[in-house]
Amino acid sequence: MSGSRSRAFFGAGGVAGFTHRAFTKAMGYDDRDMSRPVIGICNTYSELNNCNSHLRELAEAVKRGVWQAGGFPLEFPTISLGEIFLDPTSMLYRNLAAMDTEEMIRGQPLDGVVLLVNCDKTIPAALMGAASADLPAILVSGGPMLSGHYQGQLLGACTDCRRLTAEYHAGALDEATYREIEDGIVRSHGHCMVMGTASTMNSLAEALGIALPGNGAIPAPDARRLRLAQAAGRQIVELVAQGIRPSHLLTREAFENAITLLSALGGSTNAVVHLPAIAGRLGIELPLELFEQISRRTPLLVNLRPIGNYQMEDLFYAGGIPAVLKELLPLLHGDAPTVTGQTLAENVRGATISNPDVIHPLSAPLAPSGGLTVLRGNLAPGGAVIKHLAATPSLLKHRGRAVVFRNMDDLRARIDDPELEVSPEDVLVLQNVGPVGGPGMPEVGNFPIPGRLLRQGVRDMVRISDARMSGTAFGTIVLHVAPESAVGGPLALVRDGDEIELDAANHRLHLHVDEAELARRLAAWQPPAPAYTRGYGRLYLEHVMQAPAGCDFDFLQGATPVTATEQPKF
Ligand code: FES
Repeated sequence: MSGSRSRAFFGAGGVAGFTHRAFTKAMGYDDRDMSRPVIGICNTYSELNNCNSHLRELAEAVKRGVWQAGGFPLEFPTISLGEIFLDPTSMLYRNLAAMDTEEMIRGQPLDGVVLLVNCDKTIPAALMGAASADLPAILVSGGPMLSGHYQGQLLGACTDCRRLTAEYHAGALDEATYREIEDGIVRSHGHCMVMGTASTMNSLAEALGIALPGNGAIPAPDARRLRLAQAAGRQIVELVAQGIRPSHLLTREAFENAITLLSALGGSTNAVVHLPAIAGRLGIELPLELFEQISRRTPLLVNLRPIGNYQMEDLFYAGGIPAVLKELLPLLHGDAPTVTGQTLAENVRGATISNPDVIHPLSAPLAPSGGLTVLRGNLAPGGAVIKHLAATPSLLKHRGRAVVFRNMDDLRARIDDPELEVSPEDVLVLQNVGPVGGPGMPEVGNFPIPGRLLRQGVRDMVRISDARMSGTAFGTIVLHVAPESAVGGPLALVRDGDEIELDAANHRLHLHVDEAELARRLAAWQPPAPAYTRGYGRLYLEHVMQAPAGCDFDFLQGATPVTATEQPKF
Protein backbone atom coordinates (compact mmCIF):
# COMPACT_ATOMS: atom_id res chain seq x y z
CA MET A 1 0.00 0.00 0.00
CA SER A 2 3.08 2.23 -0.34
CA GLY A 3 1.76 5.77 -0.38
CA SER A 4 -1.54 4.68 -1.91
CA ARG A 5 -3.70 6.34 0.71
CA SER A 6 -1.94 9.69 0.44
CA ARG A 7 -2.10 9.38 -3.36
CA ALA A 8 -5.88 9.36 -3.03
CA PHE A 9 -5.61 12.79 -1.40
CA PHE A 10 -2.75 14.41 -3.29
CA GLY A 11 -3.10 12.67 -6.67
CA ALA A 12 -6.86 13.13 -6.99
CA GLY A 13 -8.30 15.07 -9.91
CA GLY A 14 -10.68 18.01 -9.71
CA VAL A 15 -11.08 20.42 -6.85
CA ALA A 16 -10.22 17.81 -4.19
CA GLY A 17 -6.68 17.12 -5.46
CA PHE A 18 -6.22 20.79 -6.38
CA THR A 19 -6.98 22.06 -2.88
CA HIS A 20 -5.02 19.33 -1.12
CA ARG A 21 -1.93 20.20 -3.16
CA ALA A 22 -2.42 23.96 -3.11
CA PHE A 23 -2.85 24.16 0.66
CA THR A 24 0.11 21.86 1.29
CA LYS A 25 2.24 24.04 -0.98
CA ALA A 26 1.38 26.92 1.36
CA MET A 27 3.74 25.28 3.86
CA GLY A 28 6.58 25.33 1.33
CA TYR A 29 6.32 21.75 0.14
CA ASP A 30 6.20 20.83 -3.54
CA ASP A 31 4.88 18.06 -5.79
CA ARG A 32 7.99 15.97 -5.20
CA ASP A 33 7.33 15.92 -1.46
CA MET A 34 3.69 15.02 -1.98
CA SER A 35 4.61 12.10 -4.25
CA ARG A 36 6.21 10.34 -1.25
CA PRO A 37 4.40 8.19 1.34
CA VAL A 38 3.04 10.52 4.01
CA ILE A 39 4.10 9.70 7.56
CA GLY A 40 2.16 11.31 10.37
CA ILE A 41 4.05 12.09 13.54
CA CYS A 42 1.41 11.96 16.22
CA ASN A 43 2.95 14.15 18.92
CA THR A 44 1.74 14.25 22.52
CA TYR A 45 4.09 17.15 23.29
CA SER A 46 2.71 19.49 25.95
CA GLU A 47 4.09 21.96 28.46
CA LEU A 48 1.34 20.78 30.78
CA ASN A 49 2.88 17.32 30.69
CA ASN A 50 6.49 17.56 31.87
CA CYS A 51 7.22 13.97 30.85
CA ASN A 52 6.43 14.79 27.20
CA SER A 53 7.82 18.34 27.08
CA HIS A 54 10.89 17.33 25.04
CA LEU A 55 9.01 15.53 22.28
CA ARG A 56 9.42 18.37 19.75
CA GLU A 57 13.13 17.57 19.51
CA LEU A 58 12.31 13.88 19.11
CA ALA A 59 9.80 14.72 16.37
CA GLU A 60 12.56 16.49 14.43
CA ALA A 61 14.68 13.34 14.68
CA VAL A 62 11.80 11.21 13.39
CA LYS A 63 11.38 13.63 10.47
CA ARG A 64 15.06 13.30 9.53
CA GLY A 65 14.62 9.54 9.38
CA VAL A 66 11.44 9.77 7.31
CA TRP A 67 13.12 12.09 4.78
CA GLN A 68 16.18 9.79 4.65
CA ALA A 69 13.97 6.84 3.71
CA GLY A 70 11.99 8.69 1.05
CA GLY A 71 8.87 9.59 3.04
CA PHE A 72 7.11 12.88 3.67
CA PRO A 73 6.74 13.59 7.42
CA LEU A 74 3.89 15.72 8.73
CA GLU A 75 3.58 16.28 12.48
CA PHE A 76 0.26 16.71 14.24
CA PRO A 77 -0.80 17.08 17.89
CA THR A 78 -3.15 14.99 19.95
CA ILE A 79 -4.18 15.67 23.52
CA SER A 80 -1.46 14.97 26.05
CA LEU A 81 -2.21 13.35 29.40
CA GLY A 82 0.22 14.17 32.19
CA GLU A 83 -0.04 12.50 35.58
CA ILE A 84 0.94 15.55 37.56
CA PHE A 85 -1.66 18.16 36.71
CA LEU A 86 -4.72 16.48 35.21
CA ASP A 87 -7.76 16.65 37.42
CA PRO A 88 -9.49 14.55 38.64
CA THR A 89 -7.20 11.90 37.09
CA SER A 90 -5.49 11.29 33.77
CA MET A 91 -7.16 7.88 33.47
CA LEU A 92 -10.52 9.60 32.98
CA TYR A 93 -9.16 10.94 29.69
CA ARG A 94 -7.22 7.93 28.38
CA ASN A 95 -10.11 6.83 26.17
CA LEU A 96 -10.62 10.40 24.94
CA ALA A 97 -6.94 10.48 23.90
CA ALA A 98 -7.36 7.10 22.22
CA MET A 99 -10.35 8.43 20.27
CA ASP A 100 -8.40 11.56 19.29
CA THR A 101 -5.47 9.43 18.07
CA GLU A 102 -7.66 6.99 16.14
CA GLU A 103 -9.78 9.64 14.46
CA MET A 104 -6.82 11.81 13.45
CA ILE A 105 -5.07 8.80 11.93
CA ARG A 106 -8.28 7.90 10.17
CA GLY A 107 -9.14 11.38 8.93
CA GLN A 108 -5.76 12.61 7.67
CA PRO A 109 -3.96 11.75 4.41
CA LEU A 110 -1.52 9.38 6.10
CA ASP A 111 0.12 6.15 4.99
CA GLY A 112 1.80 5.43 8.31
CA VAL A 113 2.25 6.98 11.72
CA VAL A 114 4.92 7.37 14.39
CA LEU A 115 3.39 7.70 17.85
CA LEU A 116 5.38 9.98 20.16
CA VAL A 117 4.46 9.27 23.77
CA ASN A 118 5.94 9.17 27.25
CA CYS A 119 3.84 9.80 30.36
CA ASP A 120 1.70 6.89 31.62
CA LYS A 121 -1.63 7.22 29.79
CA THR A 122 -0.24 8.60 26.54
CA ILE A 123 1.20 5.15 25.80
CA PRO A 124 -1.92 2.93 25.98
CA ALA A 125 -4.04 5.71 24.49
CA ALA A 126 -1.81 5.88 21.40
CA LEU A 127 -1.66 2.11 21.06
CA MET A 128 -5.44 1.72 21.47
CA GLY A 129 -6.13 4.36 18.82
CA ALA A 130 -3.48 3.05 16.42
CA ALA A 131 -4.71 -0.52 16.85
CA SER A 132 -8.27 0.45 15.97
CA ALA A 133 -7.19 2.51 12.93
CA ASP A 134 -4.70 -0.23 12.00
CA LEU A 135 -2.49 1.91 9.80
CA PRO A 136 1.25 1.01 9.87
CA ALA A 137 2.62 2.42 13.14
CA ILE A 138 5.71 2.55 15.35
CA LEU A 139 5.70 3.78 18.94
CA VAL A 140 8.59 6.01 20.04
CA SER A 141 8.79 6.96 23.70
CA GLY A 142 10.51 9.99 25.19
CA GLY A 143 12.47 7.86 27.66
CA PRO A 144 12.99 7.89 31.42
CA MET A 145 14.44 10.73 33.49
CA LEU A 146 17.95 10.52 34.90
CA SER A 147 18.12 9.22 38.47
CA GLY A 148 17.77 11.68 41.33
CA HIS A 149 20.36 11.90 44.10
CA TYR A 150 20.48 13.57 47.51
CA GLN A 151 23.47 13.30 49.85
CA GLY A 152 24.43 9.86 48.60
CA GLN A 153 20.84 8.58 48.45
CA LEU A 154 19.33 7.42 45.17
CA LEU A 155 16.04 9.24 44.63
CA GLY A 156 13.22 8.07 42.40
CA ALA A 157 10.18 9.91 41.09
CA CYS A 158 7.81 9.33 42.46
CA THR A 159 8.45 6.42 44.81
CA ASP A 160 10.40 8.77 47.06
CA CYS A 161 7.88 11.60 46.72
CA ARG A 162 5.45 9.47 48.73
CA ARG A 163 8.01 7.91 51.07
CA LEU A 164 9.62 11.24 51.97
CA THR A 165 6.27 12.99 52.34
CA ALA A 166 5.22 10.27 54.80
CA GLU A 167 8.52 10.86 56.68
CA TYR A 168 7.88 14.62 56.66
CA HIS A 169 4.32 14.16 58.02
CA ALA A 170 5.64 11.78 60.66
CA GLY A 171 8.09 14.52 61.73
CA ALA A 172 11.17 12.51 60.70
CA LEU A 173 12.22 15.03 58.02
CA ASP A 174 12.49 18.79 58.51
CA GLU A 175 10.99 21.36 56.14
CA ALA A 176 14.35 22.61 54.77
CA THR A 177 15.55 19.11 53.83
CA TYR A 178 12.17 18.23 52.36
CA ARG A 179 12.31 21.32 50.09
CA GLU A 180 15.95 20.72 49.16
CA ILE A 181 15.09 17.21 47.97
CA GLU A 182 12.23 18.70 45.93
CA ASP A 183 14.85 20.73 44.01
CA GLY A 184 16.79 17.68 42.88
CA ILE A 185 14.52 14.65 42.63
CA VAL A 186 13.36 15.34 39.05
CA ARG A 187 16.61 16.17 37.26
CA SER A 188 15.80 16.01 33.58
CA HIS A 189 13.24 15.55 30.87
CA GLY A 190 11.58 12.17 30.70
CA HIS A 191 9.10 10.00 32.53
CA CYS A 192 9.38 8.73 36.11
CA MET A 193 12.54 6.63 36.33
CA VAL A 194 11.48 3.88 38.68
CA MET A 195 9.57 0.86 37.32
CA GLY A 196 6.31 2.79 37.32
CA THR A 197 3.60 2.73 34.70
CA ALA A 198 5.46 4.72 32.04
CA SER A 199 8.63 2.63 32.42
CA THR A 200 6.51 -0.51 32.31
CA MET A 201 4.39 0.38 29.28
CA ASN A 202 7.30 1.85 27.27
CA SER A 203 9.24 -1.36 27.94
CA LEU A 204 6.29 -3.61 27.09
CA ALA A 205 6.07 -1.87 23.72
CA GLU A 206 9.36 -3.62 22.85
CA ALA A 207 7.90 -7.00 23.79
CA LEU A 208 4.75 -6.23 21.79
CA GLY A 209 6.97 -5.67 18.75
CA ILE A 210 5.50 -2.20 18.12
CA ALA A 211 8.64 -0.25 19.17
CA LEU A 212 12.30 -0.50 18.18
CA PRO A 213 14.71 -2.35 20.49
CA GLY A 214 16.00 0.11 23.11
CA ASN A 215 12.75 2.05 23.34
CA GLY A 216 12.07 1.13 26.96
CA ALA A 217 15.21 2.25 28.78
CA ILE A 218 17.39 4.72 26.84
CA PRO A 219 17.37 7.79 29.14
CA ALA A 220 15.47 10.81 27.80
CA PRO A 221 18.54 13.10 27.59
CA ASP A 222 20.79 10.45 25.96
CA ALA A 223 21.57 11.13 22.29
CA ARG A 224 20.81 7.50 21.55
CA ARG A 225 17.14 8.35 22.15
CA LEU A 226 17.32 10.82 19.23
CA ARG A 227 18.99 8.22 17.05
CA LEU A 228 16.30 5.68 17.97
CA ALA A 229 13.64 8.22 16.90
CA GLN A 230 15.49 8.82 13.63
CA ALA A 231 15.71 5.08 13.00
CA ALA A 232 11.97 4.80 13.66
CA GLY A 233 11.41 7.48 11.02
CA ARG A 234 13.28 5.38 8.49
CA GLN A 235 11.59 2.15 9.55
CA ILE A 236 8.02 3.42 9.34
CA VAL A 237 8.56 4.13 5.64
CA GLU A 238 9.64 0.50 5.26
CA LEU A 239 6.55 -0.75 7.16
CA VAL A 240 4.34 1.30 4.84
CA ALA A 241 6.11 -0.21 1.81
CA GLN A 242 5.50 -3.69 3.17
CA GLY A 243 1.97 -2.99 4.39
CA ILE A 244 2.73 -4.16 7.94
CA ARG A 245 -0.03 -2.99 10.25
CA PRO A 246 -0.46 -3.12 14.04
CA SER A 247 -2.84 -6.08 13.67
CA HIS A 248 0.04 -8.09 12.15
CA LEU A 249 2.19 -7.43 15.21
CA LEU A 250 -0.19 -7.15 18.17
CA THR A 251 -1.22 -10.78 18.24
CA ARG A 252 -2.12 -13.00 21.19
CA GLU A 253 1.51 -14.20 21.23
CA ALA A 254 2.77 -10.61 21.37
CA PHE A 255 0.50 -9.89 24.37
CA GLU A 256 1.73 -13.03 26.10
CA ASN A 257 5.28 -11.81 25.50
CA ALA A 258 4.36 -8.46 27.02
CA ILE A 259 2.82 -10.09 30.11
CA THR A 260 5.92 -12.26 30.52
CA LEU A 261 8.12 -9.16 30.41
CA LEU A 262 5.74 -7.41 32.83
CA SER A 263 6.27 -10.25 35.30
CA ALA A 264 10.06 -10.31 34.91
CA LEU A 265 10.21 -6.54 35.40
CA GLY A 266 7.96 -6.50 38.47
CA GLY A 267 6.09 -3.87 36.48
CA SER A 268 3.12 -1.69 37.26
CA THR A 269 -0.32 -3.07 38.10
CA ASN A 270 -1.68 -0.51 35.65
CA ALA A 271 -0.51 -2.74 32.81
CA VAL A 272 -3.20 -5.19 33.96
CA VAL A 273 -5.74 -2.55 32.92
CA HIS A 274 -3.99 -1.12 29.84
CA LEU A 275 -3.00 -4.35 28.07
CA PRO A 276 -6.59 -5.74 27.97
CA ALA A 277 -7.75 -2.35 26.64
CA ILE A 278 -5.21 -2.44 23.79
CA ALA A 279 -5.89 -6.12 23.08
CA GLY A 280 -9.65 -5.48 23.09
CA ARG A 281 -9.19 -3.22 20.10
CA LEU A 282 -7.94 -6.27 18.18
CA GLY A 283 -10.56 -8.68 19.44
CA ILE A 284 -8.14 -10.41 21.82
CA GLU A 285 -9.26 -11.17 25.37
CA LEU A 286 -6.69 -11.10 28.16
CA PRO A 287 -8.43 -12.48 31.26
CA LEU A 288 -6.93 -11.81 34.69
CA GLU A 289 -6.14 -15.52 34.96
CA LEU A 290 -3.70 -15.19 32.04
CA PHE A 291 -1.75 -12.54 33.97
CA GLU A 292 -1.77 -14.82 37.01
CA GLN A 293 -0.70 -17.87 35.00
CA ILE A 294 2.19 -16.07 33.26
CA SER A 295 3.25 -14.29 36.46
CA ARG A 296 3.45 -17.64 38.25
CA ARG A 297 5.74 -19.22 35.63
CA THR A 298 7.95 -16.15 35.08
CA PRO A 299 10.77 -15.37 37.51
CA LEU A 300 11.41 -11.80 38.60
CA LEU A 301 14.67 -10.79 36.91
CA VAL A 302 14.87 -7.02 37.12
CA ASN A 303 15.97 -5.33 40.32
CA LEU A 304 14.22 -1.98 39.97
CA ARG A 305 12.45 0.23 42.44
CA PRO A 306 9.82 0.37 43.86
CA ILE A 307 10.36 -3.33 44.60
CA GLY A 308 14.13 -3.49 43.99
CA ASN A 309 17.21 -1.30 44.31
CA TYR A 310 17.95 0.35 40.97
CA GLN A 311 16.32 2.69 38.46
CA MET A 312 15.82 2.91 34.69
CA GLU A 313 19.20 4.53 34.00
CA ASP A 314 20.88 1.53 35.65
CA LEU A 315 18.70 -0.84 33.62
CA PHE A 316 19.85 0.85 30.43
CA TYR A 317 23.54 0.54 31.38
CA ALA A 318 22.96 -3.12 32.33
CA GLY A 319 21.73 -3.97 28.82
CA GLY A 320 18.22 -2.52 28.72
CA ILE A 321 15.05 -4.31 27.71
CA PRO A 322 16.77 -6.26 24.86
CA ALA A 323 18.99 -7.96 27.46
CA VAL A 324 15.96 -8.81 29.61
CA LEU A 325 14.08 -10.19 26.61
CA LYS A 326 17.08 -12.25 25.53
CA GLU A 327 17.26 -13.81 28.99
CA LEU A 328 13.52 -14.49 28.87
CA LEU A 329 13.57 -16.12 25.41
CA PRO A 330 12.84 -19.65 26.72
CA LEU A 331 9.53 -18.24 28.05
CA LEU A 332 8.67 -16.08 25.04
CA HIS A 333 7.25 -16.52 21.56
CA GLY A 334 10.61 -15.63 19.99
CA ASP A 335 9.23 -15.92 16.48
CA ALA A 336 6.78 -13.03 16.99
CA PRO A 337 7.18 -10.41 14.23
CA THR A 338 8.21 -6.86 15.13
CA VAL A 339 8.48 -3.42 13.52
CA THR A 340 12.14 -4.06 12.65
CA GLY A 341 11.04 -6.67 10.09
CA GLN A 342 12.81 -9.27 12.22
CA THR A 343 11.46 -11.52 14.92
CA LEU A 344 11.68 -10.70 18.61
CA ALA A 345 14.45 -13.31 19.03
CA GLU A 346 16.42 -11.87 16.12
CA ASN A 347 16.12 -8.35 17.56
CA VAL A 348 17.78 -9.30 20.83
CA ARG A 349 20.37 -11.74 19.47
CA GLY A 350 23.34 -9.43 20.25
CA ALA A 351 22.09 -8.19 23.65
CA THR A 352 24.17 -8.84 26.76
CA ILE A 353 23.73 -8.33 30.49
CA SER A 354 26.53 -6.14 31.81
CA ASN A 355 25.34 -5.98 35.44
CA PRO A 356 23.74 -9.18 36.75
CA ASP A 357 22.67 -7.42 39.94
CA VAL A 358 20.34 -5.21 37.87
CA ILE A 359 19.23 -7.86 35.36
CA HIS A 360 19.43 -11.24 36.99
CA PRO A 361 19.88 -14.33 34.83
CA LEU A 362 17.07 -16.89 34.64
CA SER A 363 19.36 -19.26 36.53
CA ALA A 364 19.50 -16.92 39.57
CA PRO A 365 16.31 -14.83 39.63
CA LEU A 366 15.41 -12.30 42.29
CA ALA A 367 12.18 -14.18 42.99
CA PRO A 368 10.80 -17.41 41.52
CA SER A 369 7.71 -15.70 40.11
CA GLY A 370 6.45 -12.30 39.02
CA GLY A 371 5.10 -9.64 41.32
CA LEU A 372 1.35 -9.84 40.66
CA THR A 373 -1.29 -11.94 42.34
CA VAL A 374 -4.90 -12.08 41.21
CA LEU A 375 -7.41 -12.34 44.07
CA ARG A 376 -10.96 -13.62 43.99
CA GLY A 377 -13.63 -14.15 46.61
CA ASN A 378 -17.01 -12.84 47.69
CA LEU A 379 -15.49 -9.37 48.02
CA ALA A 380 -14.16 -9.37 44.43
CA PRO A 381 -16.12 -11.85 42.28
CA GLY A 382 -14.78 -10.12 39.14
CA GLY A 383 -11.24 -10.19 40.50
CA ALA A 384 -8.75 -7.90 42.21
CA VAL A 385 -4.99 -7.50 42.02
CA ILE A 386 -2.17 -7.17 44.54
CA LYS A 387 1.48 -6.45 43.76
CA HIS A 388 2.67 -8.86 46.42
CA LEU A 389 6.35 -8.12 45.89
CA ALA A 390 5.72 -4.48 46.84
CA ALA A 391 3.77 -5.55 49.96
CA THR A 392 4.79 -6.28 53.54
CA PRO A 393 5.22 -10.10 53.51
CA SER A 394 3.64 -10.58 56.95
CA LEU A 395 0.45 -8.80 55.82
CA LEU A 396 -0.11 -11.01 52.77
CA LYS A 397 -2.04 -13.42 54.97
CA HIS A 398 -4.12 -11.29 57.27
CA ARG A 399 -7.54 -11.10 58.83
CA GLY A 400 -8.71 -7.83 60.30
CA ARG A 401 -11.57 -5.55 61.13
CA ALA A 402 -12.71 -3.18 58.36
CA VAL A 403 -12.42 0.56 58.77
CA VAL A 404 -14.47 1.95 55.89
CA PHE A 405 -14.20 5.26 54.06
CA ARG A 406 -17.17 5.93 51.75
CA ASN A 407 -15.21 7.99 49.21
CA MET A 408 -12.23 10.32 48.87
CA ASP A 409 -13.96 13.21 50.65
CA ASP A 410 -14.74 10.96 53.61
CA LEU A 411 -11.13 9.72 53.61
CA ARG A 412 -9.71 13.26 53.56
CA ALA A 413 -12.06 14.34 56.34
CA ARG A 414 -11.29 11.49 58.76
CA ILE A 415 -7.96 9.80 58.00
CA ASP A 416 -5.96 12.11 60.27
CA ASP A 417 -8.69 12.52 62.89
CA PRO A 418 -7.08 11.69 66.26
CA GLU A 419 -10.46 10.21 67.31
CA LEU A 420 -10.57 7.71 64.40
CA GLU A 421 -11.01 4.24 65.83
CA VAL A 422 -8.29 2.30 64.07
CA SER A 423 -5.45 -0.02 64.97
CA PRO A 424 -2.52 -1.32 62.88
CA GLU A 425 -4.24 -4.73 62.52
CA ASP A 426 -7.35 -3.23 60.89
CA VAL A 427 -8.06 -3.38 57.17
CA LEU A 428 -8.65 0.02 55.57
CA VAL A 429 -11.39 0.00 52.89
CA LEU A 430 -11.96 2.84 50.44
CA GLN A 431 -15.20 2.74 48.42
CA ASN A 432 -16.33 4.57 45.29
CA VAL A 433 -12.94 5.15 43.64
CA GLY A 434 -13.34 2.74 40.71
CA PRO A 435 -13.86 3.47 36.99
CA VAL A 436 -17.36 4.95 37.57
CA GLY A 437 -17.06 5.94 41.23
CA GLY A 438 -13.69 7.74 41.07
CA PRO A 439 -14.58 8.80 38.49
CA GLY A 440 -11.75 7.55 36.31
CA MET A 441 -10.30 4.94 38.67
CA PRO A 442 -7.72 7.32 40.17
CA GLU A 443 -4.36 6.17 41.52
CA VAL A 444 -5.43 6.43 45.15
CA GLY A 445 -5.27 2.73 46.06
CA ASN A 446 -2.18 3.40 48.17
CA PHE A 447 -4.15 5.89 50.27
CA PRO A 448 -2.44 7.14 53.43
CA ILE A 449 -2.08 5.37 56.74
CA PRO A 450 -4.04 7.23 59.48
CA GLY A 451 -1.89 10.05 60.88
CA ARG A 452 -2.11 8.76 64.43
CA LEU A 453 -0.67 5.36 63.43
CA LEU A 454 1.93 6.98 61.18
CA ARG A 455 3.29 8.89 64.14
CA GLN A 456 3.48 5.61 66.06
CA GLY A 457 5.77 4.24 63.34
CA VAL A 458 3.21 2.22 61.33
CA ARG A 459 4.22 2.35 57.66
CA ASP A 460 1.94 -0.26 56.05
CA MET A 461 -1.55 -1.72 56.55
CA VAL A 462 -3.81 -3.81 54.34
CA ARG A 463 -5.70 -1.35 52.15
CA ILE A 464 -8.50 -2.39 49.77
CA SER A 465 -10.23 -0.37 47.09
CA ASP A 466 -11.57 -0.39 43.55
CA ALA A 467 -8.95 2.23 42.57
CA ARG A 468 -5.62 1.84 40.79
CA MET A 469 -2.20 2.57 42.26
CA SER A 470 0.72 4.41 40.75
CA GLY A 471 3.33 1.95 39.51
CA THR A 472 5.83 3.86 41.61
CA ALA A 473 3.99 3.10 44.86
CA PHE A 474 4.33 0.26 47.36
CA GLY A 475 2.49 -1.32 50.29
CA THR A 476 -0.03 -4.11 50.98
CA ILE A 477 -2.55 -2.68 48.59
CA VAL A 478 -5.46 -4.61 47.07
CA LEU A 479 -6.53 -2.87 43.88
CA HIS A 480 -9.01 -2.99 40.98
CA VAL A 481 -11.73 -4.73 43.03
CA ALA A 482 -14.43 -5.69 40.53
CA PRO A 483 -17.24 -5.09 40.15
CA GLU A 484 -16.61 -1.70 41.73
CA SER A 485 -18.63 -0.28 44.62
CA ALA A 486 -20.28 2.52 42.59
CA VAL A 487 -22.12 -0.06 40.47
CA GLY A 488 -23.18 -2.14 43.47
CA GLY A 489 -20.21 -4.50 43.77
CA PRO A 490 -19.75 -6.23 47.15
CA LEU A 491 -17.13 -3.64 48.17
CA ALA A 492 -20.06 -1.21 48.53
CA LEU A 493 -21.58 -3.46 51.20
CA VAL A 494 -18.65 -3.50 53.63
CA ARG A 495 -19.34 -1.84 57.00
CA ASP A 496 -17.05 -0.78 59.84
CA GLY A 497 -16.17 -3.77 61.97
CA ASP A 498 -16.75 -6.47 59.32
CA GLU A 499 -13.98 -9.07 59.21
CA ILE A 500 -11.97 -9.21 55.97
CA GLU A 501 -9.52 -11.96 55.11
CA LEU A 502 -6.65 -11.54 52.65
CA ASP A 503 -4.74 -14.68 51.71
CA ALA A 504 -2.54 -13.79 48.75
CA ALA A 505 -0.90 -17.21 48.49
CA ASN A 506 -4.33 -18.77 48.02
CA HIS A 507 -5.68 -15.89 45.87
CA ARG A 508 -8.44 -15.24 48.36
CA LEU A 509 -10.21 -12.03 49.37
CA HIS A 510 -13.16 -12.80 51.60
CA LEU A 511 -15.70 -10.71 53.49
CA HIS A 512 -16.84 -12.65 56.56
CA VAL A 513 -20.47 -11.54 56.45
CA ASP A 514 -23.20 -14.08 55.75
CA GLU A 515 -25.05 -14.03 52.45
CA ALA A 516 -28.44 -13.10 53.92
CA GLU A 517 -26.97 -10.00 55.54
CA LEU A 518 -25.17 -9.06 52.32
CA ALA A 519 -28.46 -9.44 50.42
CA ARG A 520 -30.17 -7.12 52.96
CA ARG A 521 -27.43 -4.54 52.57
CA LEU A 522 -27.60 -4.76 48.76
CA ALA A 523 -31.38 -4.22 48.80
CA ALA A 524 -30.87 -1.02 50.82
CA TRP A 525 -27.88 0.18 48.73
CA GLN A 526 -28.19 3.40 46.75
CA PRO A 527 -25.70 4.29 43.99
CA PRO A 528 -23.77 7.53 44.46
CA ALA A 529 -24.95 10.54 42.45
CA PRO A 530 -23.29 10.59 39.00
CA ALA A 531 -20.18 12.78 38.91
CA TYR A 532 -21.20 14.20 35.52
CA THR A 533 -24.50 14.87 33.81
CA ARG A 534 -23.15 16.31 30.56
CA GLY A 535 -20.17 16.41 28.22
CA TYR A 536 -17.34 13.93 27.98
CA GLY A 537 -17.78 12.95 31.65
CA ARG A 538 -21.31 11.74 30.93
CA LEU A 539 -20.16 9.78 27.89
CA TYR A 540 -17.47 8.24 30.08
CA LEU A 541 -19.88 7.24 32.88
CA GLU A 542 -22.35 5.70 30.43
CA HIS A 543 -19.81 3.59 28.55
CA VAL A 544 -16.76 2.78 30.67
CA MET A 545 -16.24 -0.92 31.32
CA GLN A 546 -14.87 -2.45 34.51
CA ALA A 547 -11.15 -2.92 35.27
CA PRO A 548 -10.78 -6.51 34.00
CA ALA A 549 -12.00 -5.31 30.58
CA GLY A 550 -9.42 -2.54 30.60
CA CYS A 551 -11.79 0.37 31.37
CA ASP A 552 -12.23 0.97 27.65
CA PHE A 553 -15.55 2.27 26.35
CA ASP A 554 -17.87 -0.51 25.25
CA PHE A 555 -18.37 1.11 21.83
CA LEU A 556 -14.62 1.47 21.17
CA GLN A 557 -13.73 -2.19 21.32
CA GLY A 558 -12.57 -3.67 18.04
CA ALA A 559 -11.04 -2.04 14.98
CA THR A 560 -12.21 -0.34 11.82
CA PRO A 561 -9.04 -0.50 9.74
CA VAL A 562 -8.25 2.42 7.51
CA THR A 563 -8.17 1.11 3.95
CA ALA A 564 -5.61 1.99 1.31
CA THR A 565 -8.28 2.92 -1.20
CA GLU A 566 -10.22 5.29 1.06
CA GLN A 567 -11.15 8.36 -0.91
CA PRO A 568 -11.28 11.88 0.50
CA LYS A 569 -14.81 13.21 0.76
CA PHE A 570 -14.04 16.78 -0.28
FE1 FES B 1 4.73 11.16 33.87
FE2 FES B 1 5.44 9.93 36.23
S1 FES B 1 4.54 11.90 35.93
S2 FES B 1 5.52 9.17 34.20
